[in-house]
Amino acid sequence: MADSQGTPEEAPASPEQKAQMEQAYAQMRRKMRMTQLDEEIKHKVMVLSGKGGVGKSTVSVGLALSLARQGKKVGLMDIDITGPNVPKMLGIEDAELHVEDGQIFPAIGPHGLKVISMAFLIEDPDKPVIWRGPIKLGAIQQFIGDVAWGELDALIIDFPPGTSDEPLTVSQSLPGIDGVVIVTTPQDVALLDSRKSINFAKTISLPCLGVVENMSGYTLHGKAEPNSQISVMGPTGTAIESTTDENGDWSVTLDVFKSGGGEAAAVELEVPFLGALPFDPGIVRGGDDGVHRIIAEPDGATAAAFDAVVDNVLVELEESSGPTVRIS
Ligand SMILES: Nc1ncnc2c1ncn2[C@@H]1O[C@H](COP(=O)(O)OP(=O)(O)OP(=O)(O)O)[C@@H](O)[C@H]1O
Ligand SMILES: [Mg+2]
Repeated sequence: MADSQGTPEEAPASPEQKAQMEQAYAQMRRKMRMTQLDEEIKHKVMVLSGKGGVGKSTVSVGLALSLARQGKKVGLMDIDITGPNVPKMLGIEDAELHVEDGQIFPAIGPHGLKVISMAFLIEDPDKPVIWRGPIKLGAIQQFIGDVAWGELDALIIDFPPGTSDEPLTVSQSLPGIDGVVIVTTPQDVALLDSRKSINFAKTISLPCLGVVENMSGYTLHGKAEPNSQISVMGPTGTAIESTTDENGDWSVTLDVFKSGGGEAAAVELEVPFLGALPFDPGIVRGGDDGVHRIIAEPDGATAAAFDAVVDNVLVELEESSGPTVRIS
């Protein structure tokens, strides 16, 4: 068909074509935003571990809070889409995400920490979400491309255990990731687990910023006669001796899960050791109450240990802030 001027008339787009065009447009916008993220977010750090339950989420939240309380602008992305627990740890699980113009605005936690988690999108937290491969991939990309983070000094990304699809997808979608922080526990197997994570970081061409040993010694405190000897039975059945100070205070650190595995792993694998975080029952309570230890006891030993790890991470970030190798 031709109109009165002889030019061919275009058939109107079908609903399917329109939907396809809209999808392509949304994808293009997402890609553009992802590229922009490199400029808007100064440092991006992935937190990984070889196995589950070693404290990745606890460490991710702790690092983010420690940075935020220094006055830095910090974002925390909980990529654990099947068992997201970061919002609960921060007491913001009931927050509602604000969506405007196709962009998702993160929830705000303590110290202005910006948080995004699949937990905010799941209607029934008791129902497991089963994600098929491509849908999971799409959800992660949407998580990265559609969130309005704004300018950030640092974005901390928490992952499910292991070296599965999620870190790979994130490393391929998010430009300019600075590197990987590996969380491990003090046992001998730490070496094995950390090696797996370090090799994974190498495979995806990201620097390993270092290893954090979590659930390190548990410190007991007590009072006795000033300037006297005390003896405490250690976990291996041998007595640990200590002396009280002039006020009668004493403290003894018990290596509940052995000690030093994280540092030994870092030395052997030739990556930086970022520090040890104490075993602290307050962390477990905080995880349940939604008040992280750093918030509950900002001047406590655990908060100080997190600050020390953050100082070391910042040193590594400065050193690795040259161009990073990325996989295409
Ligand atoms: N330093 C610590 N002292 C005492 N308890 C801790 C410490 N770190 C973590 N925990 C506790 O250990 C449990 C597991 O921690 P967390 O959820 O952070 O691990 P994870 O590695 O993220 O687990 P997953 O692999 O399931 O994602 C939680 O109950 C948490 O409160
Ligand atoms: Mg976790």
